[in-house]
Amino acid sequence: MLIDFHSHILPRADHGSDSLATSLKQLELAKAARVGTVVATPHFYPHKMTLESFLDRRNKCHSKLAEAYDGPVNIRVGAEVMVCRGLERMEGLEQLCVDSTNVLLLEMPSGKWSNSLIDTVIELDDDPRFNVVLAHIDRYDISWVKPLIDYGINCQINAVAMVKLFSRKKYLNLIDRGSVVALGSDIHGTEVGYKHYTAAVRYMGDRTAVVMNRTARLIGGSYR
Ligand SMILES: [Fe+2]
Repeated sequence: MLIDFHSHILPRADHGSDSLATSLKQLELAKAARVGTVVATPHFYPHKMTLESFLDRRNKCHSKLAEAYDGPVNIRVGAEVMVCRGLERMEGLEQLCVDSTNVLLLEMPSGKWSNSLIDTVIELDDDPRFNVVLAHIDRYDISWVKPLIDYGINCQINAVAMVKLFSRKKYLNLIDRGSVVALGSDIHGTEVGYKHYTAAVRYMGDRTAVVMNRTARLIGGSYR
């Protein structure tokens, strides 16, 4: 079964979907791409919003979608959490994990990473309450990500990383090394939809099942 581990499909939870109609269309596209489970990961920006307000909005948006959708795609709920200094001390952070798991999707900033940010990711991963997954590592300079990969942090790649030949080889390698545990569409709106995701599944070949198996175990609670 295909799992999309990173998506923005909750209506008006963030800029990923502007309406219920858009979210339903996104789920139609997921179904057409033979995706069985979509993990909804709306953005959580700790410097812009409180945990309470985020959870309240996210849960309402999820309920609205779950009530309206009667298709076959299974929707799981998590968050894409922007890493900031001191995040490891945020009370209630475990509420941002995917459903009732300890899986926490962390997003690093696009600018150069400080050592304290890297330490925050490591401290969170060392915390037994969390199993960290680093979001879309293909978006960053690989030399920035390397210390975290070497530490054994689990990584997620966006489907688009598989589309370009140059980056494809690099990330196929990281799949083989066991560093990549999930594939994401990172869908926003409906324009690109699952085009890249479908291409990635094709380019990954036998490795697709390997990655999906890792993701299934991760959100089933048995992958570390
Ligand atoms: Fe995202």
